[in-house]
Amino acid sequence: MYAAGSFVGRDAALAALTRALDRVARGRPGLVVIEGVPGMGKTTLIDRFLSGAPEVRIAQVRGLAAETLVRYGVAGQLVRELTGRSGADTAILADEEVTEVGGRLLGALGTGSGPTVLVLDDAQWADAASLHALGFALRRLESDAVLTVIGTRALDAGGEALPRLVEALRGETVRLAGLTVPEVSELAAGYGVPLSEAAARRLRTHTGGLPLHAVALLRELDPQLLARTRGPLPAPRSFARLVQRRLATGTPELQRLAAAVTVLGGTARLALAAEVAQLDDPVGALDAAVAAGLVEHRREPGGDEVRFVHDLVRAAVLDGLRPAHRVALHRRAAGYLDGAAALEQRAAAALVPDPALSAELAKTARQEAAAGAAEVAVHHFLEASRLSPEPDAARELRLDALETLILSGEAVAARGLAADLADDLAEQRDPARVGYLRGHLALLDGRPADAQRLLAEAWQWCEPAVRPRLAALIAAQLSQLYTVAARNADAVTWADRVARYAGDDPRLASAGAATVLAGLVFSGRPDEALARALPEAATATALRTGRYDDIAGRGLVRLWTDDLAGARSDLTLVTDPGRADRPLRVRLVALAYLAETE
Ligand SMILES: Nc1ncnc2c1ncn2[C@@H]1O[C@H](COP(=O)(O)OP(=O)(O)OP(=O)(O)O)[C@@H](O)[C@H]1O
Ligand SMILES: [Mg+2]
Repeated sequence: MYAAGSFVGRDAALAALTRALDRVARGRPGLVVIEGVPGMGKTTLIDRFLSGAPEVRIAQVRGLAAETLVRYGVAGQLVRELTGRSGADTAILADEEVTEVGGRLLGALGTGSGPTVLVLDDAQWADAASLHALGFALRRLESDAVLTVIGTRALDAGGEALPRLVEALRGETVRLAGLTVPEVSELAAGYGVPLSEAAARRLRTHTGGLPLHAVALLRELDPQLLARTRGPLPAPRSFARLVQRRLATGTPELQRLAAAVTVLGGTARLALAAEVAQLDDPVGALDAAVAAGLVEHRREPGGDEVRFVHDLVRAAVLDGLRPAHRVALHRRAAGYLDGAAALEQRAAAALVPDPALSAELAKTARQEAAAGAAEVAVHHFLEASRLSPEPDAARELRLDALETLILSGEAVAARGLAADLADDLAEQRDPARVGYLRGHLALLDGRPADAQRLLAEAWQWCEPAVRPRLAALIAAQLSQLYTVAARNADAVTWADRVARYAGDDPRLASAGAATVLAGLVFSGRPDEALARALPEAATATALRTGRYDDIAGRGLVRLWTDDLAGARSDLTLVTDPGRADRPLRVRLVALAYLAETE
């Protein structure tokens, strides 16, 4: 049962049920099947529907796991529910004919006046004979006002009986999917746990939107842990117990395979997992793990892959791993990997600060950020911060992570991380940098007045000669602000500052240059813009060095000077969906311009 006020979503399913009930009230029998995996909210949905239904007769029964083989178990329940009697005359004998039992159900259905809603929940456990009898009765209903609502984990769980029933009665099947991010948000709020969009997204990904698990975590976890947007979440306790019981009854090889896949991140090449787990019989262990419902096996072009059926299985296995065991496995895994993957394993194996490792992670993160791989860069910056022995340096690295997200234009994620780092952002230590980050965030949030104030302050604190990169970043935001506000002279002034301080950072310099072009175009000086645009011959170099803004900027100038073909070709180079390294921000801008060339 759901607590008052905490029911969320399911609008389409409720609408389908309500429509069907309306038709029934007009004399047309109906059938709606609600299908969904365990814990998806079938029972809750049906309860909700019934509590809102007008005066109708309700007969509610359910399949029981222990009675699947009891012939006419469900039909017997139905007759008793419908007639309100439980004496000997309602007993159904196992050897009765389906037609006979169906006839009795039909009779019982006819005893009421007004519409009846007949609910059969957990139909995956209903005995087949009862379903056949029910089908017999429902097919013979003529104008009797009966709406049948069936809840089931899978339509074909009990063989052919249910699909046939749906077909014969031209019933409607509604498949319940996981809750969406806004619905998870609403659910959390109902449990008194307000979540940012990024935090709700994390909980939704972790639970697959399954209400059962989401509710369990909302009840069990510290709201502060839930409110964070990064880092691991545990599995719900009941689920973790289930997984750990299954592991405990498995073979040692199965347990080792599960542990190895866990430290490898939940998905791994079977060959690698077998090495890390030191398996003698990888195929046997895989078979056992698949049979236990813990993992899936996939044949991929690069080699066979093993992955947990659900993120939560990994979380549950992780919960059960002793730290020493986990560290040893991460170290082993690092030995079989190279590059960033090995580095990540070494970081995961480190539980105390390690300056060398921290420096290595930070260096990798910077390269990734420069190459436009924001998400991994953020992860590596945060790991570098965790392993840094110096509190100030650790804080700088956290701000580097935030800056990377902000520059990638991922507004929701950036806002989420900013909330995680609220303490860092509240500190007055480095007003230039913090002011810049807060100002840029305000811009992403659509608060231009705040943004302008924060950025102007940041500029006051920043010494451009000492911190040219920060100066260029601040100037770039101010020039964009002025561009949007159509203060074109200011926009060009600030864009020139970007170009002056951007130094050898091609992306930054490029953004500055493009803003100058936009400023010139919008202030009615397209010829000057054309003269300052990237020369055609420099296109290949610009693409290679990540100067996408220059290309987008030239596209804009060409668009403005009526060179539509040229504009389209420039903008397409930037929006190319096959190239993930183009920053989202530039792509969006280019897409908007591209639409104007159509
Ligand atoms: N729409 C919803 N809004 C809020 N909470 C929900 C919603 N749906 C489900 N829940 C929560 O999830 C839990 C599991 O839902 P429910 O028991 O309805 O699932 P089910 O699909 O019937 O599962 P089973 O197949 O095991 O019977 C409920 O106890 C309730 O707390
Ligand atoms: Mg249920």
